This record gives sequence, structure tokens and C-alpha cells, in this order.
Amino acid sequence: MNVLFVASEVAPFAKSGGLGDVSSALPKALAARGHDVRIVMPMYARVQVPGRNFEQVFRDAVLLLGGTRIVFSVFEASLPGTTVPVYFVRCADLYDRPSIYTNDHDEHLRFAVLSWAALVIAQRTGFRPDIVHANDWQTSLLPLLLRTMFAWDRLFAQTRSVLTIHNIGHQGAFDARILFETGLSDAAHNFHQDQLREGRINYLLTGLLYSNAITTVSPTYAREIQTPEHGVGLDPFLRDRRDVLFGILNGIDEAEWNPETDTKIPHHFSIDDLEGKERNKQALCETAGLPYVPKAPIIGVVSRLAWQKGFDLCFGVLPRLLQRNGVQLVVLGTGEPKYETFFAALAKQFPKQVRFSANFSEPLAHLIEAGADMFLMPSRYEPCGLNQMYSLRYGTPPIVHRTGGLADTVTPFDPTRGSGNGFVFEHFDERGLRFGLAHALRTWGRGEGDDRERWRTLQRNGMRTRLGWDERVTAYEQVYRMVAPGR
Ligand code: ADP
Ligand code: GLC
Repeated sequence: MNVLFVASEVAPFAKSGGLGDVSSALPKALAARGHDVRIVMPMYARVQVPGRNFEQVFRDAVLLLGGTRIVFSVFEASLPGTTVPVYFVRCADLYDRPSIYTNDHDEHLRFAVLSWAALVIAQRTGFRPDIVHANDWQTSLLPLLLRTMFAWDRLFAQTRSVLTIHNIGHQGAFDARILFETGLSDAAHNFHQDQLREGRINYLLTGLLYSNAITTVSPTYAREIQTPEHGVGLDPFLRDRRDVLFGILNGIDEAEWNPETDTKIPHHFSIDDLEGKERNKQALCETAGLPYVPKAPIIGVVSRLAWQKGFDLCFGVLPRLLQRNGVQLVVLGTGEPKYETFFAALAKQFPKQVRFSANFSEPLAHLIEAGADMFLMPSRYEPCGLNQMYSLRYGTPPIVHRTGGLADTVTPFDPTRGSGNGFVFEHFDERGLRFGLAHALRTWGRGEGDDRERWRTLQRNGMRTRLGWDERVTAYEQVYRMVAPGR
């Protein structure tokens, strides 16, 4: 099938979180199955170019959106390690900003243009997509564009759309006055009328209403977002469309995240030989400036520091834990000041036990996965989550709240049966987190002898868990075939 995959971030070119990982791994997996996949993303100021040439495909394309004249050029590079073309929409006025996402007044326009440009690229390159695959609110105008402004073009006569929700917490809700600037004012009657009357337009909702199928990134999250508790206002619309709503778990890119071959870690290791892991722990301690204490477990965290991630629970729990127990903690993350301040203060209070790195570092993320003994992810909600899967793969049992994709990938360790791959707490409160941590620390025990053997069983269960894209990609193929039969 021909798939036009459109996303606001694609690793390694631009990434703020898991969307970037998935937007490169899924197209890669689809291409490996023989599909002709092309990716479209913005050319941000800081697009990472790992030794790659960008070729200009065309320049000076013009869009007239409302009263605004937008001029953009398109460059092409291939996705590293593949022949999958990535088209970059270059429009300095819109994308040359310090970060991928902004709170600027024209955020709606930046991503409306991405959706328009994606279809213009298909036109200019003569690419006839069977599927236009949109991701999150940023590209959620695509289904409606296909049904309205581009409906006249024979190129798209057979094109169907799929929208993947990676996070329903971000919807692209704007004042309805921006409708004109999206270039869709002729299609105003297609927007949700109650919302329009209230003076709002919501990109994600628009996508949910017009895409031929909707997917989200885990089966549990697919159920959760149909409830008022997790639907963030969109649950009634999702319930209406439940026949075409599918939860497909993300996979991990095993070329990037594999302890046997990872080029970002100093020592390789495998399920049969975990000795390298201990040496990575040593390396992590050196990098973090912490004393290396083999018997004390290191808890790792790599995360956006956002409300979603649930670190509020740590405020009351971690200081007491660190005081009573020799456990160490290495945190890598950036985000809201209150979390950054908390972890910085913790590092100051416990200099031999805690290290906090407030930046974005791929190499350190890999070293933490490889060198930590356990991984903490207390998310309030988690559509899928990739870090718990990286942790499983790296023999670093995760401690998670039972929600979304965490519930679908982590199963509680049962020492009597030797089953399970991590630690799961049920209730999102401090007691819940304390329970999860206590279970993990009890299982770790003294970190030697029989305790060590028990821990090894747990690690191996995690490392054996199937996490690759192989199976997931067939689920996407089924959805594609369902909406575009005969292809
Ligand atoms: P989300 O997409 O909600 O942030 P995921 O678990 O799906 O959560 O994916 C997060 C991705 O971003 C992972 O690849 C993780 O390693 C990466 N990441 C998050 N914060 C950082 C950071 N400070 N440095 C490096 N990588 C990070
Ligand atoms: C979102 C979610 C995360 C998911 C990622 C990739 O950022 O927060 O849970 O893994 O998208 O789908």
C-alpha cells in the first residue's frame, strides 16, 4: 500500500517524546513489509542531521490560507537505515523556533500548514496514497482536508485516512476565530457546530469525526479514552466511533534499543550474560558522580516532567525512602518547574544518592536504561509509554502505575511462580507508589545470593517479553485494509 505518514516529530530528526520514536519506527516496520511509505514533517530550526544530505524537491509552493500567503519549500532525506523518504516542509517563518512546540499565537497555523503541505507534496510528487496516516492534533485536519479542499483531486479518489491518538491530553483547541486562517472556512459547516457556537475549534475532535479509522497506542488506553475519566471531553465522540477505534500497542525499535548492539552504551549485555549490565551501572555512577554501591539499587527515571507523568506522588514518598534506605536515584528530564525544582532539591539534600540532569540527552537516556537496576514510571495516565519497554529490554524492571499501556506491558512479579516482569501499583496515590517501591525493594532484598537469583529471573522475564514492531505492524495493516479494501 502507499502510505503518507504525517507527524510533527520524527526521530532522529526531531523528537520531544515517544511520538518521535513511533513516527520513525512504525514507517520503518511498514516499509520492511513492502509498503511504499513516505513521511512528512516540518523542517524545524534544529532538525538533527546525522551526516545526511537534504535534497530540494521543490521550492516556493504557495498556500493562501484565509488572508495569509504562506510560501514553503520541500526537502528530502531518507530515514536513517532505510530508503523511506522523509519530506521536510521548510517555512522559516513558521518552523524556525527554539522548540518543536510553542505557545505562540500562530501554533494553529504552524500545524494547519503541515497538513496542507503534506497533500501538496503528494500532488507535486505524484504520490497516490491509499492511506494518509495522521498523528495527534497537529495533523488532525488531514481527514477533513481530504474530504473537502482536496476532494476534487483524482489523485486522492481512493485515499482513506487513519488517525492515531498518542495523547488525548493535547487536543489543539483554539478560539474559533482562527478558522479562517486554517484555510478551511469554506468547510466551516463540517466543524463540530456546538463547539463552533461556543467559539472553539478543536483539531483532534475534527480528526476523530472525519478519519476513516482511529487508532490509539494501547488496548487499555483505547478503552480508557471512551470514559469520562480519561476522555478529556472527547469520550462521547469516541464511543460513537468505537466500531472503528482500535488499540494497537507501540513496539520498540530494536535497532536503536538493544543492549547487545546499542552504540550509546559502554558495555553490551544479553539475557544470557548480564555481566555487562553491572559494568554499565558502574559507568552510570561515574557519569552521575555517585558512589558505586553494588548492593544498593539504582532507580532510573527518564521522562518529560509533566503532570501526566505523575511525579507529584514522589514529593511525599521519595525523601523518606532515601532517608531510610541506601537506594540511589538518577533522574533525566525536563519540564514543569515544580518537578525540576523538586528533583534538584532532592539531589542537593542527598548528594551521595541522587543525581538530577535537567536536559535532553539520548546517550544518558540509554545509559540510564542500561545501568539502572529499576525504572520508575508512576504516570497518572500513559497512552502507551516507551520507557517501560526499553527498561524491560535492558533488564531494568519497571515500577509503574497500572494505567494505559503500562498496564498492557508490565505484569507484577510473583516470586513463588517466578512470573511477571515488573512492579505494578493499582491506586494513583502515595500509598500506591509506596507499595510499588516496597515490592521492588523487597524483591531486590540484599542484592546478593538467593535474592540476586530471584532478581535475575525477574530481569530475564522482562528481557524475554516480546516488544518489537513485528506483530504490531500487522495490526496496522489490518486497519489499513479495513478502510481501503481491495488494495
Ligand atoms: P512521552 O511520549 O509521553 O514523553 P514515552 O515513554 O512514550 O513518553 O516516550 C518518551 C521518549 O522520550 C523516550 O524515547 C525517552 O527516552 C525520551 N525522553 C524523554 N525525556 C528525555 C530526556 N530528558 N532525554 C532524553 N530522552 C528523553
Ligand atoms: C505519547 C504518550 C506516550 C506514547 C507516545 C507514543 O507521547 O504520552 O504514552 O508512548 O505518545 O505513542
